[in-house]
Amino acid sequence: MNNAYPNHVTIVDVSPRDGLQNESMTVPTAIKQALIEDLTKAGVKKIETTSFVSPKWVPQMGDNNELMTALAASRSDDVIYSVLVPNMRGFDDAILHRPDEVVIFASASETFSQKNINCSIDESIERFAPVAAAAKAQGIKVRGVISCTVGCPYEGEIDPNQVAYVTKRLVEIGAEQIGIADTIGVGTPIKVKKALAAALEYIDIAHISGHFHDTYGQALSNTLAALEMGVNEFDTSVAGLGGCPYAKGATGNVATEDVVYMLHGMGIETGIDLDKLVVAGERISEFLGRRNDSNVARALINKRSA
Ligand code: HMG
Ligand code: MG
Repeated sequence: MNNAYPNHVTIVDVSPRDGLQNESMTVPTAIKQALIEDLTKAGVKKIETTSFVSPKWVPQMGDNNELMTALAASRSDDVIYSVLVPNMRGFDDAILHRPDEVVIFASASETFSQKNINCSIDESIERFAPVAAAAKAQGIKVRGVISCTVGCPYEGEIDPNQVAYVTKRLVEIGAEQIGIADTIGVGTPIKVKKALAAALEYIDIAHISGHFHDTYGQALSNTLAALEMGVNEFDTSVAGLGGCPYAKGATGNVATEDVVYMLHGMGIETGIDLDKLVVAGERISEFLGRRNDSNVARALINKRSA
């Protein structure tokens, strides 16, 4: 039935990290903890929990230690709790909490690299290399995510050769998986396929994931394009939360509910209970006082109340 597509897709819900990092109101640690617990109850097996970045740069992630400490008692053995780490300072803080995966995050755009992490692409690789080595030495997975793989808020269109170059460098220093990110959601399916094809020069499709923001409403189409190439892992955000403080105008990630609905409708398993996922998205949207940005969640809620 779904020959061309994977039978199972891993959903990485990034809402506690990408979803909240750009929120101007301070979200209490207990609310983040409740969101993570709601996601695990819904069957999400991989969660981007927080970032060990500078609180001066991203104040919302400033409770990284408190959150990881609060989660310690309720962490589930079959859930991967990932954290973003930009340098050894971040790793030294993160390792105290034994995350299951560290995410090093580079960019295919020089300007975005400077704006986001205050260094060039090559300098970022130098900073990530000891992080990747230290993580691997402790048996912790290493994922590399590449921002701006199709477009950059500062440089416009990005040459897929840049994606190939950064993939190569991240793989060389030990990234086991590469995330291809459309940070500002400008990608369309063919462009996203070109970015994925560039990454494929240096890593197998089984180790590539998609991270598509939905600013221009293209993220589900881009997800389908990636699925057609055999990508079987996607970063998504419940209620479509998300954005990057250093990518002005970029809105949320593709909503987890929308991706799960599409995948289940295609006969592809995720292990996720959609109704429970909708509860998770509603709870955090209510707290933030925001409209739930998942079309599927709104449709299901309307259907229930009709
Ligand atoms: P820097 O200022 O160049 O760092 O920032 P530095 O090494 O010069 O240190 C300056 C000060 O920061 C020092 O403190 C350090 O200790 C401290 P001081 O001596 O002045 O008191 N510091 C830290 N504190 C806590 N944790 C750390 C850390 N490192 C240094 N890890 C840095 C460089 C990378 C730290 C900074 O630019 C930063 O934190 N950037 C944040 C970037 C970020 O989190 N962006 C959003 C996530 S990426 C994203 O959303 C994209 C993604 O979703 C994919 C996509 O959609 O594209 C993943
Ligand atoms: Mg993102």
